[in-house]
Amino acid sequence: MRSLRLATVTLATAALCLPLATGAATAAPPADRKAPPHSHAAPDRLRSAAPEGFFVGTAVAGGGHHLSQDYPDPFTHDKEYRKILARQFGSVSPENQMKWDFIHPERDRYDFGQADAIVRFAERNRQVVRGHTLLWHSQNPEWLEKGDFSAEELRALLREHITTVVGRYAGRIQQWDVANEIFDDQGRLRTQDNIWIRELGPGIVADAFRWAHEADPEAKLFFNDYNVESVNAKSDAYHALVQDLLAQGVPVHGFSVQAHLSTRYGFPGDLEDNLRRFDALGLETAVTELDVRMDLPESGVPTKAQERKQADYYRRVLQACLAVDGCNSFTIWGFTDKYSWVPVFFEGEGFANVMTEDFVRKPAFYALRDTLKEAARKDRGHRRG
Ligand code: XIL
Repeated sequence: MRSLRLATVTLATAALCLPLATGAATAAPPADRKAPPHSHAAPDRLRSAAPEGFFVGTAVAGGGHHLSQDYPDPFTHDKEYRKILARQFGSVSPENQMKWDFIHPERDRYDFGQADAIVRFAERNRQVVRGHTLLWHSQNPEWLEKGDFSAEELRALLREHITTVVGRYAGRIQQWDVANEIFDDQGRLRTQDNIWIRELGPGIVADAFRWAHEADPEAKLFFNDYNVESVNAKSDAYHALVQDLLAQGVPVHGFSVQAHLSTRYGFPGDLEDNLRRFDALGLETAVTELDVRMDLPESGVPTKAQERKQADYYRRVLQACLAVDGCNSFTIWGFTDKYSWVPVFFEGEGFANVMTEDFVRKPAFYALRDTLKEAARKDRGHRRG
Protein backbone atom coordinates (compact mmCIF):
# COMPACT_ATOMS: atom_id res chain seq x y z
CA MET A 1 0.00 0.00 0.00
CA ARG A 2 1.24 3.45 -0.76
CA SER A 3 1.75 6.17 1.72
CA LEU A 4 0.60 9.72 0.90
CA ARG A 5 1.41 10.55 -2.65
CA LEU A 6 1.82 13.82 -4.58
CA ALA A 7 3.05 14.67 -8.06
CA THR A 8 3.79 17.53 -10.53
CA VAL A 9 5.24 18.15 -13.97
CA THR A 10 8.39 19.87 -15.49
CA LEU A 11 10.00 21.66 -18.54
CA ALA A 12 12.85 20.35 -20.62
CA THR A 13 14.34 23.72 -21.41
CA ALA A 14 16.57 26.41 -20.21
CA ALA A 15 15.50 29.15 -17.83
CA LEU A 16 11.94 30.03 -18.55
CA CYS A 17 10.80 32.27 -15.89
CA LEU A 18 10.66 35.89 -16.76
CA PRO A 19 9.62 38.35 -14.13
CA LEU A 20 6.17 39.58 -15.02
CA ALA A 21 3.99 42.43 -14.00
CA THR A 22 2.30 42.16 -10.65
CA GLY A 23 -1.44 41.69 -10.73
CA ALA A 24 -4.31 43.28 -8.94
CA ALA A 25 -6.47 40.87 -7.02
CA THR A 26 -10.15 40.70 -7.84
CA ALA A 27 -12.92 39.26 -5.70
CA ALA A 28 -13.88 35.66 -6.38
CA PRO A 29 -17.51 34.93 -7.21
CA PRO A 30 -18.67 31.81 -5.39
CA ALA A 31 -18.99 29.69 -8.55
CA ASP A 32 -17.77 26.61 -6.74
CA ARG A 33 -20.19 26.61 -3.82
CA LYS A 34 -22.09 23.57 -4.94
CA ALA A 35 -19.18 21.64 -6.38
CA PRO A 36 -19.54 18.02 -5.40
CA PRO A 37 -16.94 16.54 -3.08
CA HIS A 38 -14.62 13.68 -3.97
CA SER A 39 -16.81 10.73 -4.82
CA HIS A 40 -16.02 7.17 -5.83
CA ALA A 41 -19.24 7.19 -7.82
CA ALA A 42 -17.57 9.48 -10.36
CA PRO A 43 -14.92 7.33 -12.02
CA ASP A 44 -14.60 9.80 -14.89
CA ARG A 45 -12.88 12.25 -12.63
CA LEU A 46 -9.15 12.11 -12.26
CA ARG A 47 -9.36 12.71 -8.52
CA SER A 48 -11.68 9.79 -7.93
CA ALA A 49 -9.90 7.46 -10.33
CA ALA A 50 -6.67 7.83 -8.32
CA PRO A 51 -5.52 5.30 -5.74
CA GLU A 52 -6.22 6.26 -2.15
CA GLY A 53 -3.74 8.82 -0.85
CA PHE A 54 -2.58 9.82 -4.34
CA PHE A 55 -3.31 13.47 -5.18
CA VAL A 56 -3.84 14.57 -8.76
CA GLY A 57 -3.46 18.31 -9.00
CA THR A 58 -3.37 21.28 -11.33
CA ALA A 59 -2.07 24.82 -11.32
CA VAL A 60 -4.76 27.45 -10.70
CA ALA A 61 -4.55 29.97 -13.53
CA GLY A 62 -4.04 33.63 -12.61
CA GLY A 63 -1.35 36.31 -12.36
CA GLY A 64 1.92 35.99 -14.32
CA HIS A 65 1.43 35.82 -18.10
CA HIS A 66 -2.36 35.95 -17.74
CA LEU A 67 -2.13 39.63 -16.84
CA SER A 68 -1.05 40.50 -20.37
CA GLN A 69 -3.75 38.44 -22.11
CA ASP A 70 -7.10 39.77 -23.27
CA TYR A 71 -9.25 37.67 -20.94
CA PRO A 72 -10.28 38.32 -17.36
CA ASP A 73 -8.65 36.48 -14.47
CA PRO A 74 -9.41 32.79 -15.14
CA PHE A 75 -9.81 31.55 -11.56
CA THR A 76 -12.18 34.28 -10.50
CA HIS A 77 -14.15 34.75 -13.74
CA ASP A 78 -14.42 31.54 -15.74
CA LYS A 79 -17.30 29.47 -14.35
CA GLU A 80 -16.72 26.47 -16.58
CA TYR A 81 -13.05 26.51 -15.62
CA ARG A 82 -13.87 26.57 -11.90
CA LYS A 83 -16.31 23.72 -12.27
CA ILE A 84 -13.73 21.46 -13.86
CA LEU A 85 -11.08 22.59 -11.37
CA ALA A 86 -13.30 21.47 -8.50
CA ARG A 87 -14.49 18.25 -10.07
CA GLN A 88 -11.35 16.81 -11.55
CA PHE A 89 -8.60 17.60 -9.08
CA GLY A 90 -7.69 16.68 -5.54
CA SER A 91 -4.83 19.16 -5.27
CA VAL A 92 -4.30 22.74 -6.42
CA SER A 93 -1.20 24.91 -6.84
CA PRO A 94 -1.46 28.68 -7.25
CA GLU A 95 0.25 29.29 -10.60
CA ASN A 96 1.49 32.76 -9.61
CA GLN A 97 -0.67 33.97 -6.74
CA MET A 98 1.76 33.07 -3.96
CA LYS A 99 4.90 34.26 -5.73
CA TRP A 100 6.71 37.24 -4.24
CA ASP A 101 5.70 39.78 -6.88
CA PHE A 102 2.05 38.88 -6.50
CA ILE A 103 1.66 38.39 -2.76
CA HIS A 104 4.18 40.98 -1.53
CA PRO A 105 3.87 43.88 -4.02
CA GLU A 106 5.33 46.54 -1.72
CA ARG A 107 7.79 46.27 1.12
CA ASP A 108 5.16 46.92 3.75
CA ARG A 109 2.16 45.50 1.95
CA TYR A 110 1.04 41.95 1.30
CA ASP A 111 -1.83 41.08 -1.03
CA PHE A 112 -3.40 37.85 0.15
CA GLY A 113 -6.72 38.19 -1.71
CA GLN A 114 -6.16 35.62 -4.44
CA ALA A 115 -4.14 33.19 -2.35
CA ASP A 116 -6.83 33.23 0.33
CA ALA A 117 -9.50 32.63 -2.31
CA ILE A 118 -7.61 29.61 -3.68
CA VAL A 119 -7.11 28.08 -0.24
CA ARG A 120 -10.81 28.59 0.60
CA PHE A 121 -11.85 27.10 -2.75
CA ALA A 122 -9.65 24.08 -2.04
CA GLU A 123 -11.15 23.56 1.39
CA ARG A 124 -14.70 23.80 0.10
CA ASN A 125 -13.84 21.20 -2.50
CA ARG A 126 -11.78 18.95 -0.24
CA GLN A 127 -8.58 19.61 -2.11
CA VAL A 128 -5.07 19.88 -0.74
CA VAL A 129 -2.86 22.85 -1.66
CA ARG A 130 0.77 23.05 -2.80
CA GLY A 131 2.35 26.37 -1.88
CA HIS A 132 4.60 27.87 -4.57
CA THR A 133 7.15 29.44 -3.87
CA LEU A 134 9.34 31.20 -1.25
CA LEU A 135 12.93 31.50 -2.47
CA TRP A 136 13.38 31.96 -6.23
CA HIS A 137 15.38 34.06 -8.68
CA SER A 138 12.33 34.96 -10.76
CA GLN A 139 9.07 36.90 -10.33
CA ASN A 140 10.42 38.95 -7.47
CA PRO A 141 9.06 42.49 -7.07
CA GLU A 142 11.18 45.39 -8.30
CA TRP A 143 11.25 46.98 -4.86
CA LEU A 144 13.16 43.89 -3.74
CA GLU A 145 15.42 43.28 -6.75
CA LYS A 146 16.28 46.95 -7.22
CA GLY A 147 16.21 47.96 -3.56
CA ASP A 148 19.38 49.00 -1.83
CA PHE A 149 19.30 46.60 1.11
CA SER A 150 22.14 45.49 3.34
CA ALA A 151 22.70 41.76 3.81
CA GLU A 152 21.20 42.01 7.24
CA GLU A 153 18.07 43.72 5.92
CA LEU A 154 17.65 41.16 3.13
CA ARG A 155 17.91 38.31 5.57
CA ALA A 156 15.30 39.90 7.80
CA LEU A 157 13.05 40.48 4.76
CA LEU A 158 13.19 36.85 3.71
CA ARG A 159 12.57 35.64 7.23
CA GLU A 160 9.62 37.96 7.66
CA HIS A 161 8.16 36.97 4.29
CA ILE A 162 8.42 33.25 4.95
CA THR A 163 7.09 33.56 8.49
CA THR A 164 4.17 35.70 7.34
CA VAL A 165 3.13 33.75 4.25
CA VAL A 166 3.72 30.22 5.57
CA GLY A 167 2.30 31.18 8.96
CA ARG A 168 -0.88 32.59 7.43
CA TYR A 169 -1.75 29.22 5.86
CA ALA A 170 -0.29 26.99 8.56
CA GLY A 171 -2.05 23.64 8.71
CA ARG A 172 -3.74 24.28 5.35
CA ILE A 173 -0.92 23.69 2.89
CA GLN A 174 0.24 20.15 2.31
CA GLN A 175 3.52 20.86 0.54
CA TRP A 176 5.55 24.03 0.03
CA ASP A 177 8.07 24.57 -2.76
CA VAL A 178 10.43 26.36 -0.41
CA ALA A 179 13.34 26.69 -2.85
CA ASN A 180 12.62 26.88 -6.56
CA GLU A 181 15.22 26.43 -9.33
CA ILE A 182 18.33 27.19 -7.26
CA PHE A 183 20.71 25.34 -9.62
CA ASP A 184 21.45 25.98 -13.29
CA ASP A 185 21.55 23.16 -15.85
CA GLN A 186 25.21 22.49 -15.10
CA GLY A 187 24.36 21.90 -11.46
CA ARG A 188 25.93 25.18 -10.28
CA LEU A 189 24.13 27.19 -7.62
CA ARG A 190 22.62 30.36 -9.07
CA THR A 191 25.02 32.68 -7.33
CA GLN A 192 24.32 35.55 -9.73
CA ASP A 193 20.64 35.67 -10.65
CA ASN A 194 19.27 34.46 -7.31
CA ILE A 195 19.31 37.56 -5.09
CA TRP A 196 19.25 35.53 -1.87
CA ILE A 197 22.18 33.27 -2.70
CA ARG A 198 24.13 36.13 -4.30
CA GLU A 199 23.78 38.49 -1.36
CA LEU A 200 23.59 36.07 1.54
CA GLY A 201 25.51 32.97 0.42
CA PRO A 202 24.30 29.37 0.02
CA GLY A 203 23.53 28.97 3.74
CA ILE A 204 20.36 31.02 3.23
CA VAL A 205 18.72 28.01 1.58
CA ALA A 206 18.92 25.99 4.82
CA ASP A 207 17.57 28.97 6.75
CA ALA A 208 14.59 29.25 4.42
CA PHE A 209 13.68 25.63 5.18
CA ARG A 210 14.16 26.20 8.93
CA TRP A 211 11.94 29.31 8.94
CA ALA A 212 9.24 27.61 6.88
CA HIS A 213 9.27 24.65 9.24
CA GLU A 214 8.92 26.91 12.29
CA ALA A 215 5.98 28.68 10.67
CA ASP A 216 4.18 25.44 9.71
CA PRO A 217 5.61 22.26 11.24
CA GLU A 218 3.06 20.12 9.36
CA ALA A 219 3.84 21.24 5.83
CA LYS A 220 6.19 19.09 3.76
CA LEU A 221 9.03 21.24 2.47
CA PHE A 222 10.34 20.74 -1.06
CA PHE A 223 13.09 21.58 -3.51
CA ASN A 224 11.49 22.05 -6.94
CA ASP A 225 13.12 22.43 -10.37
CA TYR A 226 12.89 21.83 -14.12
CA ASN A 227 15.24 19.62 -16.14
CA VAL A 228 15.73 17.35 -13.15
CA GLU A 229 13.53 14.50 -14.39
CA SER A 230 16.62 12.54 -15.40
CA VAL A 231 19.76 11.63 -13.56
CA ASN A 232 21.98 14.51 -14.71
CA ALA A 233 24.32 17.21 -13.39
CA LYS A 234 21.46 19.26 -12.02
CA SER A 235 19.61 16.44 -10.24
CA ASP A 236 23.00 15.17 -8.98
CA ALA A 237 23.55 18.59 -7.41
CA TYR A 238 20.21 18.32 -5.58
CA HIS A 239 21.01 14.79 -4.49
CA ALA A 240 24.29 15.94 -2.94
CA LEU A 241 22.79 19.07 -1.37
CA VAL A 242 19.88 17.21 0.19
CA GLN A 243 22.21 14.69 1.84
CA ASP A 244 24.29 17.50 3.20
CA LEU A 245 21.27 19.35 4.59
CA LEU A 246 19.71 16.22 6.09
CA ALA A 247 23.02 15.46 7.84
CA GLN A 248 22.82 18.92 9.39
CA GLY A 249 19.25 18.29 10.53
CA VAL A 250 17.68 20.82 8.16
CA PRO A 251 13.94 20.12 7.70
CA VAL A 252 13.89 19.12 4.01
CA HIS A 253 11.08 16.68 3.20
CA GLY A 254 10.75 16.49 -0.54
CA PHE A 255 12.22 16.75 -4.01
CA SER A 256 9.98 17.52 -6.94
CA VAL A 257 10.37 17.56 -10.68
CA GLN A 258 8.42 20.20 -12.56
CA ALA A 259 8.26 18.13 -15.76
CA HIS A 260 7.71 20.81 -18.37
CA LEU A 261 8.32 18.45 -21.26
CA SER A 262 8.35 18.85 -25.01
CA THR A 263 7.89 16.15 -27.62
CA ARG A 264 10.86 17.81 -29.35
CA TYR A 265 13.02 15.96 -26.88
CA GLY A 266 13.09 12.28 -26.00
CA PHE A 267 11.18 11.11 -22.96
CA PRO A 268 13.26 11.11 -19.74
CA GLY A 269 13.18 7.33 -19.41
CA ASP A 270 15.13 7.28 -16.14
CA LEU A 271 12.56 9.41 -14.30
CA GLU A 272 11.48 6.54 -12.06
CA ASP A 273 15.10 5.68 -11.16
CA ASN A 274 15.77 9.31 -10.41
CA LEU A 275 12.74 9.62 -8.13
CA ARG A 276 13.82 6.42 -6.41
CA ARG A 277 17.22 7.76 -5.49
CA PHE A 278 15.58 10.68 -3.68
CA ASP A 279 13.06 8.32 -2.11
CA ALA A 280 16.03 6.32 -0.82
CA LEU A 281 17.19 9.41 1.07
CA GLY A 282 13.88 9.33 2.93
CA LEU A 283 12.31 12.17 0.92
CA GLU A 284 8.87 12.43 -0.56
CA THR A 285 8.91 13.03 -4.28
CA ALA A 286 6.38 14.74 -6.52
CA VAL A 287 5.64 15.84 -10.07
CA THR A 288 4.62 19.46 -9.77
CA GLU A 289 4.17 21.20 -13.13
CA LEU A 290 3.64 18.64 -15.89
CA ASP A 291 2.83 19.80 -19.36
CA VAL A 292 3.86 18.37 -22.72
CA ARG A 293 4.23 20.94 -25.46
CA MET A 294 4.83 20.33 -29.14
CA ASP A 295 5.73 22.09 -32.38
CA LEU A 296 2.48 22.92 -34.07
CA PRO A 297 2.00 22.45 -37.81
CA GLU A 298 1.06 25.57 -39.78
CA SER A 299 -2.62 24.74 -39.46
CA GLY A 300 -2.20 25.00 -35.70
CA VAL A 301 -3.87 21.60 -35.39
CA PRO A 302 -1.69 18.72 -34.20
CA THR A 303 -1.72 15.40 -36.01
CA LYS A 304 -3.18 12.27 -34.44
CA ALA A 305 0.37 10.95 -34.09
CA GLN A 306 1.36 14.07 -32.15
CA GLU A 307 -1.61 13.66 -29.85
CA ARG A 308 -0.69 10.03 -29.25
CA LYS A 309 2.90 10.93 -28.47
CA GLN A 310 1.76 13.56 -26.01
CA ALA A 311 -0.59 11.12 -24.31
CA ASP A 312 2.27 8.68 -24.04
CA TYR A 313 4.48 11.26 -22.29
CA TYR A 314 1.74 12.13 -19.81
CA ARG A 315 1.12 8.46 -19.11
CA ARG A 316 4.79 7.64 -18.57
CA VAL A 317 5.36 10.50 -16.14
CA LEU A 318 2.34 9.40 -14.13
CA GLN A 319 3.46 5.76 -14.19
CA ALA A 320 6.91 6.71 -12.91
CA CYS A 321 5.39 8.60 -10.00
CA LEU A 322 2.89 5.85 -9.22
CA ALA A 323 5.72 3.32 -9.15
CA VAL A 324 7.54 5.15 -6.37
CA ASP A 325 6.00 4.79 -2.92
CA GLY A 326 6.73 8.28 -1.66
CA CYS A 327 5.50 9.99 -4.85
CA ASN A 328 1.98 10.90 -3.86
CA SER A 329 1.46 14.21 -5.57
CA PHE A 330 1.10 14.57 -9.34
CA THR A 331 0.29 18.02 -10.63
CA ILE A 332 -0.28 19.18 -14.20
CA TRP A 333 0.51 22.83 -15.00
CA GLY A 334 -3.02 23.75 -15.96
CA PHE A 335 -5.56 21.49 -17.64
CA THR A 336 -6.72 23.58 -20.61
CA ASP A 337 -4.81 25.12 -23.51
CA LYS A 338 -7.05 28.16 -23.06
CA TYR A 339 -4.79 29.45 -20.28
CA SER A 340 -1.47 27.76 -21.00
CA TRP A 341 1.74 29.67 -20.44
CA VAL A 342 3.41 27.65 -23.23
CA PRO A 343 2.58 29.73 -26.35
CA VAL A 344 3.64 32.86 -24.45
CA PHE A 345 7.04 31.45 -23.43
CA PHE A 346 7.89 28.98 -26.23
CA GLU A 347 7.52 30.36 -29.71
CA GLY A 348 5.82 27.99 -32.13
CA GLU A 349 4.93 25.46 -29.45
CA GLY A 350 1.58 24.79 -27.83
CA PHE A 351 -1.21 22.24 -27.28
CA ALA A 352 0.53 21.29 -24.04
CA ASN A 353 -2.39 20.52 -21.74
CA VAL A 354 -4.85 17.64 -21.41
CA MET A 355 -7.89 19.60 -22.60
CA THR A 356 -8.32 21.89 -25.61
CA GLU A 357 -9.23 25.56 -25.31
CA ASP A 358 -12.89 24.45 -25.31
CA PHE A 359 -12.29 21.98 -22.51
CA VAL A 360 -12.52 18.99 -24.84
CA ARG A 361 -10.58 16.05 -23.40
CA LYS A 362 -7.57 14.92 -25.38
CA PRO A 363 -6.06 11.43 -25.53
CA ALA A 364 -3.68 12.66 -22.80
CA PHE A 365 -6.61 13.13 -20.41
CA TYR A 366 -7.80 9.57 -20.98
CA ALA A 367 -4.24 8.27 -20.65
CA LEU A 368 -4.06 9.79 -17.17
CA ARG A 369 -7.51 8.60 -16.18
CA ASP A 370 -6.95 5.03 -17.33
CA THR A 371 -3.51 4.84 -15.73
CA LEU A 372 -4.95 6.05 -12.43
CA LYS A 373 -7.80 3.55 -12.58
CA GLU A 374 -5.41 0.72 -13.31
CA ALA A 375 -3.19 1.73 -10.38
CA ALA A 376 -6.20 1.99 -8.06
CA ARG A 377 -7.39 -1.46 -9.13
CA LYS A 378 -3.97 -3.00 -8.42
CA ASP A 379 -3.79 -1.16 -5.13
CA ARG A 380 -7.12 -2.55 -3.97
CA GLY A 381 -6.12 -6.06 -5.05
CA HIS A 382 -2.89 -5.68 -3.15
CA ARG A 383 -4.69 -4.65 0.03
CA ARG A 384 -7.16 -7.54 -0.21
CA GLY A 385 -4.37 -10.00 -0.92
C1 XIL B 1 5.01 30.26 -14.93
C2 XIL B 1 3.53 30.62 -14.99
O1 XIL B 1 2.82 29.53 -15.53
C3 XIL B 1 3.29 31.85 -15.82
O2 XIL B 1 1.96 32.30 -15.68
C4 XIL B 1 4.25 32.97 -15.41
O3 XIL B 1 4.09 34.04 -16.30
C5 XIL B 1 5.70 32.50 -15.40
O4 XIL B 1 5.81 31.36 -14.56
N1 XIL B 1 8.60 26.98 -13.33
C6 XIL B 1 7.88 27.39 -12.23
C7 XIL B 1 6.57 28.07 -12.42
O5 XIL B 1 8.26 27.08 -11.09
O6 XIL B 1 6.31 28.99 -11.40
C8 XIL B 1 6.51 28.74 -13.78
O7 XIL B 1 5.19 29.26 -13.95
C9 XIL B 1 6.88 27.78 -14.88
C10 XIL B 1 8.26 27.25 -14.70
